Amino acid sequence: MKILVTGGTGYIGSHTVVELQQAGYEVVVVDNLINSEKSVIDSIGKITGIAPDFEEIDLSDPAMTDKLFENHPDIKAVIHFAALKAVGDSVKRPLEYYRNNIFSLVNLLEAMKRYDIKHFVFSSSCTVYGQADELPVKESTPRKDAESPYGNTKKIAEDILENVVRTGSLQCIALRYFNPIGAHPSAVIGELPIGVPDNLVPYITQTAIGIRKKLMVFGNDYSTKDGTPIRDYIHVLDLAQAHVVALKRMLENKQRSPWEIFNLGTGNGFTVLEVINSFEKVSGQKLNYEIVERRAGDIEKVWADTEYANRELGWKAVRDLDEMMRSAWDWELAMKERNK
Ligand code: NAD
Ligand code: UD1
Repeated sequence: MKILVTGGTGYIGSHTVVELQQAGYEVVVVDNLINSEKSVIDSIGKITGIAPDFEEIDLSDPAMTDKLFENHPDIKAVIHFAALKAVGDSVKRPLEYYRNNIFSLVNLLEAMKRYDIKHFVFSSSCTVYGQADELPVKESTPRKDAESPYGNTKKIAEDILENVVRTGSLQCIALRYFNPIGAHPSAVIGELPIGVPDNLVPYITQTAIGIRKKLMVFGNDYSTKDGTPIRDYIHVLDLAQAHVVALKRMLENKQRSPWEIFNLGTGNGFTVLEVINSFEKVSGQKLNYEIVERRAGDIEKVWADTEYANRELGWKAVRDLDEMMRSAWDWELAMKERNK
């Protein structure tokens, strides 16, 4: 069965393509390579033995998006990762984020309607909860006003999808990711941040390998055990596997309703200092870091209530923080080897 994976050369997309192929699906990847490299297609092929079909297309272009479906009339479902995702950048360039993330979604949904494709898995984010009043957050926890244009694109996208599902032409599962980190155990694919990373873990590994001088820890005066913010870090492989489960649930008509939302986290929160400690333990490296001012827009703490996703999907994140950090470090080392 042929599945379209948008953003499939990106970080989470590439890991999901591997899992889909290993579960027996045929995959077509579409990506405009704005935040990834075409070589990822070969890397996927190295792991699975099959390089997926690849189409270099900008999904914010409606004609190109339509053509994609014309070229692949046998697509049965779409997993939609393609989006711009840098929170700070979105504050500076909101229109680019709305154009890219919202137009791409609308173009895809219009084309799917024309070609009568009914199944859609969407990458949402725990950012829609903001700083929730109660922790852990459940799927039913009210969403808050978005803290950034990026976050708002996720909220708006969820609303668009819910509206379209109501018309009866679409079935959708929105997956709200917590903080995906780590890399494939083969160290053949992983996160490839372009420029200076915004996110904690690539910043840690790049500092340890000598690309960055020092990690800035953004604030230690939060109301948490060591004063640094808490997040629910989840191994990208656990996350990727949840997509295969969600897809099967839809294709086998096991959804409770045609519009479903699931939290994808581990249910455990870790502080920034705990993440650093785990990294130092598994890598044997001493990390150069300094506590600095809080980062604007950061929330204090969030972690997932995973009970509903675990029960309904029959899926559970199984990899712990040390395994996440070890795989992230192995990936950084592998990239260094490759770039020699
Ligand atoms: P990524 O940047 O590595 O992957 C996204 C891919 O989409 C990139 O390869 C990029 O080139 C492609 N893309 C962007 N706009 C496109 C367009 N108009 N047409 C075609 N391709 C386009 O990001 P990721 O970390 O793999 O994230 C995947 C999805 O998950 C995104 O929707 C993101 O918002 C969401 N998400 C990510 C995180 C995270 O922490 N990484 C957390 C929550 C949600
Ligand atoms: C953010 C977004 C999330 C988005 C994700 C991926 C929010 C609330 N969340 O997650 O929606 O999907 O980015 O882009 O906006 N930290 C440091 N030093 C650093 C980097 C990070 O101390 O150099 C700290 C942060 O303060 C935070 C933690 O590490 O406490 C994790 O940060 P990060 O990896 O950027 O993810 P989020 O901000 O949680």
